[in-house]
Amino acid sequence: MKTPLLKVENLSKAYAPGEFVWQNVNFDLGRGDFLYILGGSGAGKSSLLRTLSSLEIPSAGKVSYHGQDLASVGRSGLERIRQRMAFIPQNLGLIPDLTVRDHLEMSRLPLSPEDRTDDKTLEGFIQLTGLGKKLDKRVGALSGGERQRVAILRALSKRAEILIADEPTGAQDFEMTWKLMDLFVKLNLSGVALLLATHDLEMVRRLRKRCAILKDGGFRVEERA
Ligand SMILES: Nc1ncnc2c1ncn2[C@@H]1O[C@H](COP(=O)(O)OP(=O)(O)O)[C@@H](O)[C@H]1O
Ligand SMILES: [Mg+2]
Repeated sequence: MKTPLLKVENLSKAYAPGEFVWQNVNFDLGRGDFLYILGGSGAGKSSLLRTLSSLEIPSAGKVSYHGQDLASVGRSGLERIRQRMAFIPQNLGLIPDLTVRDHLEMSRLPLSPEDRTDDKTLEGFIQLTGLGKKLDKRVGALSGGERQRVAILRALSKRAEILIADEPTGAQDFEMTWKLMDLFVKLNLSGVALLLATHDLEMVRRLRKRCAILKDGGFRVEERA
């Protein structure tokens, strides 16, 4: 069988001894797969996505990327893997005193040219997010919705093979939400794997994809209806 892009085996996380946020998470994600991560507030979506993005260490279990165990690839191996992953964190992780352009440049600078979204495509993403006139503004001077779009744009400035997005449209209006979702779907159809956390069941009804549900510390992938 082909090695999946992301393989998650018996993954568990506890921030205090014995107090598991989620336990025994198992799933595979292949090239071009789309999986929603559903769950209410506090269910563990963000901690799971941070762990899958290699920003947190699991308490037990294993995450493999192209068959490479994240826990044993070493520092440079992890750097290389992170260059192929785009992550939109729920808390955005922006630096208020830097401009939108600074954020894009900081994201792209360490990447090899083939891992960067080409300039023309990036320009299209900038137009779509409506940030074209705000590139030289300090992020701290932007609205919450605009800041979220900066975090999205920063992730999209990488030509990643997986996009991990934590409630990426939570601060957007209806029109922008669907512009962005259309873009995510297009990227997904071009082969980018997508993991998208949401608690918006209306979104799931409108855009039907495979769902995984986090509830009471358990994780279950629903088979397609
Ligand atoms: N860094 C952390 N330290 C301690 N507890 C945490 C930390 N991050 C998350 N938690 C706890 O884990 C649980 C799940 O949080 P989170 O993953 O943010 O859920 P969700 O994104 O689904 O709202 C919460 O009870 C939260 O308090
Ligand atoms: Mg969250």
